[in-house]
Amino acid sequence: MKISVAAGMIEKQKTDGAVILLFEDEKPGAAAGRIDKALGGMIARLMKRGDFKPKPGGVHLLYPEGRIVAERLVLAGLGKRKDLDLNRLRQAAGKAAPHLRAAGARNIMIAADGLGSGAEETAQALTEGSVLGLYRFLKYKTKEENNNKEDVQAVTIVTESAASLKAMQKGAKTGEVIAGSTMMVRDMVSSPPVDMTPAIVAAKARETAREFGLKLQVLERSGMEKLGMGALLGVASGSAQPPKFIILEYRKGGGKPFIALVGKTITFDSGGISIKPSENMDKMKDDMSGGAAVLGALRTVAALKLPLNIVGLLPATENMPGGSAYKPGDVLRTLSGQTIEIINTDAEGRLILSDALAYACRYKPAVIVDIATLTGACRVALGQEAMGMLGTDDKLKQKIREAGEKTGERVWELPLWEGYYDQIKSDGADMKNAGGRDGGAITAAALLSRFVQDYPWVHLDIAATAWTEKDRPYTPKGATGIGVRLLTQFLRDYAASAK
Ligand code: BES
Ligand code: MN
Ligand code: ZN
Repeated sequence: MKISVAAGMIEKQKTDGAVILLFEDEKPGAAAGRIDKALGGMIARLMKRGDFKPKPGGVHLLYPEGRIVAERLVLAGLGKRKDLDLNRLRQAAGKAAPHLRAAGARNIMIAADGLGSGAEETAQALTEGSVLGLYRFLKYKTKEENNNKEDVQAVTIVTESAASLKAMQKGAKTGEVIAGSTMMVRDMVSSPPVDMTPAIVAAKARETAREFGLKLQVLERSGMEKLGMGALLGVASGSAQPPKFIILEYRKGGGKPFIALVGKTITFDSGGISIKPSENMDKMKDDMSGGAAVLGALRTVAALKLPLNIVGLLPATENMPGGSAYKPGDVLRTLSGQTIEIINTDAEGRLILSDALAYACRYKPAVIVDIATLTGACRVALGQEAMGMLGTDDKLKQKIREAGEKTGERVWELPLWEGYYDQIKSDGADMKNAGGRDGGAITAAALLSRFVQDYPWVHLDIAATAWTEKDRPYTPKGATGIGVRLLTQFLRDYAASAK
């Protein structure tokens, strides 16, 4: 798909489908006003009669039939002017673009003036919204849907202001990179687990590293044994697929300390010996979403050439109930030296993360952020509107929170108070890996906190948000690719504030 920015008046552009964005509490102005006039006042009439209410996410398709150049016209709602933010722009573009595709449009133009935010941010948001809204996972569909000709080939952001052109081009470029990384993550998460094994994740990381200039190292089982990654090895012991510990380094930050990103990469979580019920077990292919998000964020950062040093760590394995699988009652010796008693082999994410977090500490990082589909309990606590955030550093939490608000990948903090640690006390080891049903997202994070030393650390639980069962405005049903945009925003802000 080609993304570009053009200067001119949208009603004069030759396109299969023009998009104009409208406010609930304003008459059509500027481009929309001129188009309204060309259509004999039709838009104002539709709004007045209530046939089209410019609510957020509302769209309406019209056929101008020669009165403007565009073949089709979509009106997209933004809600009230005072409530406008970048997420509303993403939503509107994310609804309008697939609507036009369904009607038959193969190239789309969006009028981008007068939408509140700066030109660069506006173009970025419209690009992200339309590209992500158009996303489909068709790799395993053999019929007509797989025909590439039936997809949108070009999205053009149109501005009447010659002065905005440069900034919009920059924003569109950024949006294209970020959306590209998000789609890479969605593809990885959507892939059947047989086609997204630890080895395949490592190959994908290698491909990305080569293309974007990252340094890659992959530890095999023997390397993990040498280091003493007993937790990761324990989880991997029941699987026929060899585990991989994937280390990606991005170094464009001179002498600055590293930022460490750690992503849970369980390529399939059967639960192991504490096997899961079969209902919805297929969804456990999404248990590598955290690792994929870290890879996606690094891809973006490298493409944008941010002046930072970042290490990305992906502990990758299946969690399977093979004959040599680890068992409830086992005690695993982690890389940090601390021991963990296994109560439930389905609480495997915190185990592989404990070794990855301990490994992250070797970089003496400025901050550590981990992202993981860690607990069903997080879904119970927060539903799908926010990921869970827990951590040790208020400044870092605040930065993540702000990045969440900007990107619409919102976070909500859960407490990590001392009392919760009682639940992971073990009689025979330093701690146990499951702390019961109560506060399950918290006790999981409490265990993680034992492996980050005194480094500022935040944990993000995306168990509920990595996959959506319903279409959302720019997130079609399926893998969401969550985390890429949040981490990228956090890192861009971090780079800007460290200048
Ligand atoms: N991968 C799951 C968490 C999960 C649940 C992700 C639902 C996506 C949707 C994790 O490994 C897990 O199984 N957690 C257990 C922990 C429990 C055994 C302490 C859980 O949440 O039930
Ligand atoms: Mn599990
Ligand atoms: Zn899991």
